Amino acid sequence: MKTIIEPFRIKSVEPIRMTTPEYRDQCIRDAWYNLFALHSDDVLIDLLTDSGTSTMSARQWASLMQGDESYAGSPSFYRFKAAVENLMPFKYLIPAHQGRAAESILFTVVAKPHHSVPNNTHFDTTRANVEAQGAEAVDLVVPEGHHPELEHPFKGNMDIAALERFIEERGVENIPLCMLTVTNNSGGGQPVSMENIRQTREVCDRHGIPLFIDACRFAENAWFIRQREPGYEDTPVVDIVREMFSYADGCTMSAKKDGLANIGGWLAMNNEEWAVQCRNRLILTEGFSTYGGLAGRDLEAIATGLEEVVQEDYLNYRIASTAYVERHISAVGVPTMKPAGGHAVYIDARRFLPHIQPLQYPGQSLAVELYRHGGIRGCEIGTAMFGLRPDGKEEPAHMDLVRLAIPRRMYTQSQMDYVVEVVQDVWERRESLRGMKFIRQPKALRHFTGRFAYVDDA
Ligand code: F0G
Repeated sequence: MKTIIEPFRIKSVEPIRMTTPEYRDQCIRDAWYNLFALHSDDVLIDLLTDSGTSTMSARQWASLMQGDESYAGSPSFYRFKAAVENLMPFKYLIPAHQGRAAESILFTVVAKPHHSVPNNTHFDTTRANVEAQGAEAVDLVVPEGHHPELEHPFKGNMDIAALERFIEERGVENIPLCMLTVTNNSGGGQPVSMENIRQTREVCDRHGIPLFIDACRFAENAWFIRQREPGYEDTPVVDIVREMFSYADGCTMSAKKDGLANIGGWLAMNNEEWAVQCRNRLILTEGFSTYGGLAGRDLEAIATGLEEVVQEDYLNYRIASTAYVERHISAVGVPTMKPAGGHAVYIDARRFLPHIQPLQYPGQSLAVELYRHGGIRGCEIGTAMFGLRPDGKEEPAHMDLVRLAIPRRMYTQSQMDYVVEVVQDVWERRESLRGMKFIRQPKALRHFTGRFAYVDDA
């Protein structure tokens, strides 16, 4: 059959409160044009993030009741541990309440002010956690990753030659670890090939640098490997996942993505000395080492989620449904990041709105308009998010994108058809969109709490 259907039925529904463009215009003004400041019940289709928004399965809801809330040594922790180790067999596993907590613990322990950390592309919290230690976070994605319109099967790959040069320039002693983000979220949800993971590992091995994987979307990455990398067509997803992690010395993970859970994360590694220090830090900031800031029931939901996320029917539907949205908006000429990412469709706002220069945040202007017109909440990933450097200067980000992140197992195809229609409508009157400016911004992570206005507002 040509049609790939959702491989589930809906047992429980949540109503969406319908709103008008006039009402939403008032909401977005009240929010200072920052989509993070909206009340989410004023949003019709919420594509702000795929993080923590997954629909849990009936099996996951049932698992919650198995949660054991013992402070230490809960059976729920051991079930969680077995589920993680089935896919990512690292020696030490440290639960945390979400991905950035794992990052914070890791970099507090391993990063020093003179250090540099290479990554294909740091996610914003990863970068902020590296920089919070006074260290430098450097993105070394392949050049193809900077060209949204270019088709390439693995645009998330690390630039191996650039990594070699980087190590030579900075010196091995200044690089505590190397990271690979799968899939490469800030670079468009693009996958990293197995060959590239292997090559990155070889470079790291040659210099004695540990390799960590930011594993948030590991199952989607594995599916892309299976679909696109010669030799993996018939390999079971679980085996692809295990091979990916076999090349790493550790990982950080947000269970809010491919854990199919609403909260949770972990840090895992083989280095005992680091693990001991990380556990001490965990107890200080998150909780005891068998719950790490999570309830026992959360650990159960994650354990079941990890079994479901590697199922082939699920991944086939997941990746096809994201590609569906991209295909339909690009069919009318909307410039998008090619090919579609795993968890999100990225609209190239710089090409969508060529009359708005990057320092006037074309991505923000487009995201605001998608909300006003259709009640869709996406997220700017561009100059508003990345343009402010630690030294206070501002420069255009590599790209100005609007991310429409698709929550897992949540929206139906007709809701996605509505999204397509809204994007097409805004595309038809794109010349009327205006540039924006910050009127208030914090020094770090300004996109979360900053306030915007239109450049030509008084
Ligand atoms: N790494 C990547 C690649 C991520 O995408 C995220 C979160 C994190 C780390 C941090 O995990 O949210 O559990 O603390 N990304 C979300 C997003 C927020 O919308 O892309 P967290």
